Amino acid sequence: MSDISRYYDKQAKLLIFIKIKCVVDMNDNIDEMDKNNYDFKEHWNTAYQKSPITNLGWYEENPAPSLELIESCNLPKEAFIFNAGAGATTLIAGLLAKGYKNIIVNDIAVAAIEELKSNLPSSVNAAVQFVVDDLTNPSDLLKVKNVDLWHDRAVLHFFTQEKQQRAYFDLLKGALKPKGFVILAEFNLEGAKKCSGLDVFNYNEEMLQERLGTDFVLLKSFNYTYTQPSGNTREYVYTLFQKKL
Ligand SMILES: C[S@@+](CC[C@H](N)C(=O)[O-])C[C@H]1O[C@@H](n2cnc3c(N)ncnc32)[C@H](O)[C@@H]1O
Repeated sequence: MSDISRYYDKQAKLLIFIKIKCVVDMNDNIDEMDKNNYDFKEHWNTAYQKSPITNLGWYEENPAPSLELIESCNLPKEAFIFNAGAGATTLIAGLLAKGYKNIIVNDIAVAAIEELKSNLPSSVNAAVQFVVDDLTNPSDLLKVKNVDLWHDRAVLHFFTQEKQQRAYFDLLKGALKPKGFVILAEFNLEGAKKCSGLDVFNYNEEMLQERLGTDFVLLKSFNYTYTQPSGNTREYVYTLFQKKL
């Protein structure tokens, strides 16, 4: 090969290398973008549509840790109890059975709310309000005020971006009454790093305290091993906070 053809051959190889690198980088960026901006609504609607709730990895036949923490707050039965990302949880039926009369159920997925409604007697209409909205980009949720107790099991940990977490805690703080209670039950630091195919952000009680700030006092905290319908286990941290006056 002459010097000139060796030169052109080298240039052509360099061009091919640059082209391949650009495509790889572009794909990496697309993956990163998808991971951060996936469509919450579509993801969760599909999750509830494709399997019976009793097979879902977060299904609880008896939501005992949540019910016990809620009962320990000694709230009147008229208290406003807000369930963030409630899905089709059996906790709502449990609260109704205990006589609570003002329950606000939120979820981003209509399919979850429909499933929940179908499992509740129609006589509960007056006791339960449903708000389909995004906790990290709220619109109707901004009208929810004077909440006596905010309950979240396995929802906050899906908000992996700082701006989502900030929006969530701003909403919580704006909705809660002085002296109101907050229950946050999330995967703990030893817990799984993914759920429902999505990355999660793991917590301990100090991290939750830091996000809530000094206006909130930690009343109780414990680690809890939840057994999924499949028999696998998931490690949670349960926390109960109270807002100061
Ligand atoms: C793992 S499930 C837990 C459901 C329920 N809290 C329970 O313990 O059975 C997570 C729930 O959060 C809801 N969710 C996810 N992102 C949300 C968002 N941005 N706003 C409101 N709900 C959301 C999902 O639709 C789903 O029902």
